[in-house]
Amino acid sequence: MAKGKKRNSPDLKSEKDYAKYFETIYQPPSLRDARRRGKEEVKIHYKYEIPDDVKNIGVGLKFYIRTYGCQMNEHDTEVMAGILTDLGYEPTVEEKDADVILLNTCAIRENAENKVFGEIGHLKALKREKPELILGVCGCMSQQESVVNRILQKHPQVDLIFGTHNIHRLPILLREAYYSKEMVVEVLSKEGDIIENLPRVRKGKISGWVNIMYGCDKFCTYCIVPYTRGKERSRMPKDIIEEVRQLAREGYQEVTLLGQNVNAYGKDFDFEYGLGHLMDEIRKIDIPRIRFTTSHPRDFDDHLIEVLAKGGNLVEHIHLPVQHGNSEILKLMGRVYTRDEYLELVRKIKAAIPNVVLTTDIIVGFPNETEEQFEDTLSLYREVGYDSAYTFIYSPREGTPAAKMKDDVPMAVKKERLQRLNALVNEIALDKNKRYENEVVEVLVQGESKKNSDVLTGYTRGNKVVHFHGPESLIGTLVDVRIKKAKTWTLDGELEEMLEVKSS
Ligand code: 5AD
Ligand code: SF4
Repeated sequence: MAKGKKRNSPDLKSEKDYAKYFETIYQPPSLRDARRRGKEEVKIHYKYEIPDDVKNIGVGLKFYIRTYGCQMNEHDTEVMAGILTDLGYEPTVEEKDADVILLNTCAIRENAENKVFGEIGHLKALKREKPELILGVCGCMSQQESVVNRILQKHPQVDLIFGTHNIHRLPILLREAYYSKEMVVEVLSKEGDIIENLPRVRKGKISGWVNIMYGCDKFCTYCIVPYTRGKERSRMPKDIIEEVRQLAREGYQEVTLLGQNVNAYGKDFDFEYGLGHLMDEIRKIDIPRIRFTTSHPRDFDDHLIEVLAKGGNLVEHIHLPVQHGNSEILKLMGRVYTRDEYLELVRKIKAAIPNVVLTTDIIVGFPNETEEQFEDTLSLYREVGYDSAYTFIYSPREGTPAAKMKDDVPMAVKKERLQRLNALVNEIALDKNKRYENEVVEVLVQGESKKNSDVLTGYTRGNKVVHFHGPESLIGTLVDVRIKKAKTWTLDGELEEMLEVKSS
């Protein structure tokens, strides 16, 4: 465990003192060390207890958590909200009314980090007005040496920094932040055990997230996640199944199983059990829709495809990040599959699940990407015929192997490639959506449309957004909608018939 404090600390006079001090609180992301990750057993703790002296620490106080990044982070926020609620805090939607503000950060690209630093800057004024405010920074950015360093040196308004492996220690860290005049830093460079039974305040009552594993051992050369989230650790099947059953009992209509690389689920067990086995058990639970994210093509095995083909509550949407369409670049990215192997996997999936909706993630402008290599991405995109994609310009991440690669592609070229890719993504998305015109789709109604409160909004099994007119009472139910007009990102329809009304 690494732990430390600094703010105007009298014993840190020189750069050398500071460097020494930093070593005691933090170990930087290191590819060598990370790859040497121990195979030592991950302990599972089923008992979560709040120490007596912090039990009511938040009574009469309010908290606000701002979340950046992926669904894993969104779900971590639900856990932190659960812990804070247990401590007596109440949520607020106004930052200015909060007594504790946590920024749950994302490190995936530079612009994600810039947003957080902008927000930390803004909060300086609030902290000045309200010195008793506790301002905490957590999540993936906190796992990086350079970030902790920058906050320690330039942002003394921050009271608390903690990482992704010690969320369960929030009660103790808060107590320290209250009693200490110095910045409290606790970042565990080594991933911790699995803590079951942490409290959660879920964001909604319709769709819920369930973690099935933590961490990632894939080490794609551009990606910071294996460093910020640690090694792969799978939750026990029985704990996952119980959590899904509990959500079903509470009336949830949809569950998304979460992991950075869900296809590696179970690889750390000493018994034969993978994502296919887990899905095969979960599909028997009485809940209308089960999803999972995110997949790595490498470990997407035939057994999983066979199970997904059984359909039922296993929806026919697979997010299958390809990242690039050229085998040489895929090799440099450390993706361990070629273009042809990926296309073969897609063929197998389409053969088994003919109405499958495929979506993907793509990076353009990887170091030294040539025009021809980029065009391979365009041709692969067309060949697969994805329904949609998240597209990104490569962003070098300190500590990753790709960040050390020389790069001769000018930013203007990368931007232009992104635009060309996005034009193709839009063209195919509209084309795919057009096929739904005059068809009836099953929609899980999530709420009123943000733009127009007369309109309801929901998702199809394939994760497409549908807008239609209907009474508020349909929120949280599954309904049949006939699609009248397809747009690039949404489908407009008319209510056909109610399939199932939530009993509560
Ligand atoms: N630069 C740009 N995009 C990245 N992603 C991950 N790391 C980087 C990076 N360094 C993208 C990948 C991943 C998605 C979550 O973010 O496409 O699948
Ligand atoms: Fe961002 Fe990755 Fe961390 Fe999610 S796991 S918050 S995408 S860095």
